[in-house]
Amino acid sequence: MVSRTKDLENLDEEALGAMIDPQNLPRHVAIIMDGNGRWAAQKNLPRIAGHRRGIQSVREIVTFSRELGIETLTLFAFSNENWQRPSTEISQLMMLLERYLKQELKTMMKNEIRFRTVGQIERLPASVVRMIRSVEEKTEQNKKMTLILALSYGGRAEVVDAVRRIMEEFQKEKISIKDIDEELFSRYLYTQEVPDPDLMIRTSGEVRISNFLLWQLAYTELYFTKTFWPDFRRKDFLQALLDYQGRERRFGLVGEQASNSGSMQNASSPGSSGKRFLEDLNGGEEREF
Ligand code: IPE
Ligand code: IPE
Ligand code: MG
Repeated sequence: MVSRTKDLENLDEEALGAMIDPQNLPRHVAIIMDGNGRWAAQKNLPRIAGHRRGIQSVREIVTFSRELGIETLTLFAFSNENWQRPSTEISQLMMLLERYLKQELKTMMKNEIRFRTVGQIERLPASVVRMIRSVEEKTEQNKKMTLILALSYGGRAEVVDAVRRIMEEFQKEKISIKDIDEELFSRYLYTQEVPDPDLMIRTSGEVRISNFLLWQLAYTELYFTKTFWPDFRRKDFLQALLDYQGRERRFGLVGEQASNSGSMQNASSPGSSGKRFLEDLNGGEEREF
């Protein structure tokens, strides 16, 4: 299907919001937040300025996802490969991360957001690990949305870690070879408790996965935008969601089967349900973010 991005480019946030079909939102959105460095370079600023501005986008997209009713939002914040960046950039990123978690706890509690992480967390500085564990613990019972940060994360490392843990269970005779299937394997991944992403967004114009959620993205709809992460705001998110809603997810079936089984997603036109949904959002107490 032809991307709808072109048609949506000139619409403002209100018009885009009115087009959203609240019944057809992705349950899980995953985002590769890319382009902070280039955003800064464009403005003759140091890279850290881009990362700092990127946090504003994080805040906006987290609260907006919660308003819209998205169940799970996964944000790729630091990859295994990013450990090879200059050490000054790494320490600045770690500082920003620690500060973000400290500041955001209040918002997460207020909005009933549960915080989780995926990745090799033990590789992060001890103070960051402590902060992560504390926010995870304090938000554990929150039920309205799950926010997952992928930190020190690599998709291949995740698969290898899963294999290692399965082998350990095998050695202890807790599982046998015939038990191993896709469902069992998924339970050994970092993301065991959440459904696979329905939509994956990458900002900054790069069209690649960069070792993100390799297993989980098998049937995810992919959306790429040239916008740098620090410029990615509610309007851009709505454009991505509308593009998603215009797609037909077939999961290997022929179109007719997919539509009969209800897995086909239809393009939504500006309709009264979408308009009412946006009005509800704007009038409801949820606007207090
Ligand atoms: C994404 O922005 C943030 C991280 C990877 C930590 P980049 O830092 O990759 O920015 P670009 O891609 O160099 O512009
Ligand atoms: C992917 O971005 C990782 C994150 C956004 C955290 P990179 O900037 O590291 O990816 P490449 O190097 O362009 O593939
Ligand atoms: Mg990058």
